[in-house]
Amino acid sequence: MAIPEDILERIKEANDLVSVARQYLPDLKKAGRDWKCCCPFHYEKTPSFSISPEREIFKCFGCGQGGDVFKFVMSMENISWIEAVKKLAERASIEIPSNNNFETAKNSKKSIILKILETTSNFYHQCLLKSSKAKTAREYLKERGVNSASIEKFRLGFAPKGLLLQAALKTGYTKAELIEAGILTTTQKGDLFEYMSDRLVFPIFDAAGNVVGFGGRTLDETRPPKYINTPETIVFSKSGVLYGLFQTLPTLRTQKESIIVEGYMDALISWQFGISGVVAPLSTALTDKHAKLISRYSNQTTVLFDPDPAGQKAVRRALEIFEQNSMDAVVSTLPENIDPDQYLNSHGKENFLALLKSTRQEPIDFLINQVLKTYNQSGLNARMAIVSDLLNFAACNPNVNAQMQQITKIAQRFNVDEKAIRYEFSKLIKQKRIGQASQNQTQAQAQQKPEKDILNSLQAKFLNLLLFNRTLVNESCAEFFTEDLFKKIFESLILKKDDAHIMNTLSDEERLIFTKLTASDPRFSDASKAYNTMINELQTAKLKMRLNQIKQEVSLMINGKIEKDMQKLKEYEELTLKLKGAKETAL
Ligand code: UTP
Ligand code: MN
Repeated sequence: MAIPEDILERIKEANDLVSVARQYLPDLKKAGRDWKCCCPFHYEKTPSFSISPEREIFKCFGCGQGGDVFKFVMSMENISWIEAVKKLAERASIEIPSNNNFETAKNSKKSIILKILETTSNFYHQCLLKSSKAKTAREYLKERGVNSASIEKFRLGFAPKGLLLQAALKTGYTKAELIEAGILTTTQKGDLFEYMSDRLVFPIFDAAGNVVGFGGRTLDETRPPKYINTPETIVFSKSGVLYGLFQTLPTLRTQKESIIVEGYMDALISWQFGISGVVAPLSTALTDKHAKLISRYSNQTTVLFDPDPAGQKAVRRALEIFEQNSMDAVVSTLPENIDPDQYLNSHGKENFLALLKSTRQEPIDFLINQVLKTYNQSGLNARMAIVSDLLNFAACNPNVNAQMQQITKIAQRFNVDEKAIRYEFSKLIKQKRIGQASQNQTQAQAQQKPEKDILNSLQAKFLNLLLFNRTLVNESCAEFFTEDLFKKIFESLILKKDDAHIMNTLSDEERLIFTKLTASDPRFSDASKAYNTMINELQTAKLKMRLNQIKQEVSLMINGKIEKDMQKLKEYEELTLKLKGAKETAL
């Protein structure tokens, strides 16, 4: 949804950054022309967060975060740009005209569903607190060590059989809406019934604090399944939510370390004991989306799954996902037969933290130790099969240095020749590439480049530099941007547009990438020197690309397979020389 520029201007004007920021940061103090306080985005003891009222921007000299009032609200609330704009529009009672009927319809449907879910969760919560039918549930929670602060914070509830159905039908929402919200469904005969029935209810919140679905635990072990979820809806996708994230966000945001556990109760009890950053996926294995969600808030993740075989198997998959996303993860392990919630309840916070620390292992060490536990020295082939399985894991990480470190460890621990292992590894990578290439072909060209590749590219780094050093922007940089999105952003930079205006021209997906590009200031001590270095690198990359383009043709010419094209041969020679020169000056 594009918002007219003049409206955006009005919203910005009506929400001066200092007054907006003071709502979130009561410690903000005037210091000269600026306002200062400790940064809300990273942990610090002396204030390096500052707001310039003249320029209407904020900036943290510690972590590099900065931007305008929209960016501030986005970062504070962990919401998208468009949500921040809407929020500030509402704050200033400015109406955003809608130019898209379909979207409005979808939005209003979404808000109806969110309202139903909110009302339902309050209903269940009141039942838990007050209903005589919830006595067992209340006792159960006590038995599991859940205190009333946690019951409030996580808005736990109880669903006495049939009560929600009665209540919901009196609310004025249509049956269709109640079904779409995921709280009721119909039998084949057409009768309505409830998803949660005689269950302890865990409302599932998204990162902004909306209830998007429910998890329910049976209180009667003879009546499985142990847990069920309400179905996926337009506001609820299991692979995109983490239980406990919303409640732990305030501390996670400053400490930036997360812990992934398996169960609802593990996340909840961790919060209760004051352990920051503990989240759980909902009855699914960890997905790529979960990993990306975590990486928005934390720099390092500890995987702490149940010590049973299923949990330990799930660790491997989770680690693969973190490796693929170049995210730092470690594994900690609990003693046998005890889940995180039980450990906390019986041993307390300090012992729990000490255990996390003393059992902490790097992913590859964890996996090596896991197989070494059951591994029998006998057969060479068996040993090689294990090694090859571990090499497969090492290949998940796109970074060559990270791969090599893991390979060295594998070689050492299995006592095999490192060179031989490297050779095996390069074969494996080649096979993977071939596999990947054919997969890519079949997946059609339309598929976009993964966000990570784009962000890791030289072009992204260059654009990031320009975004934070606008005086360096000039027409001659244009030739280096080949990605469509980068071209588009660069054109806006030439037109001297600010971040908010650029955001407004982008799609939701593009905004995500743009947000990352503007998330942190590269903070070069000498920006123009960095600029020159990058220009050199980009120039070299461009030459290399051209060289690769004509290489095959030239080799066919040299081998007499096709007619010689003197111009191309000359170009090839020149490119090779230039690249040699570039290498030498770089050295
Ligand atoms: P567990 O079986 O380990 O349960 O499943 P738990 O978390 O230890 O449960 P408590 O502590 O006895 O209450 C781990 C997670 O897998 C999902 C739930 O999300 C659960 O928290 N699960 C488990 C289901 O979705 N359905 C089930 O039947 C069981
Ligand atoms: Mn458990």
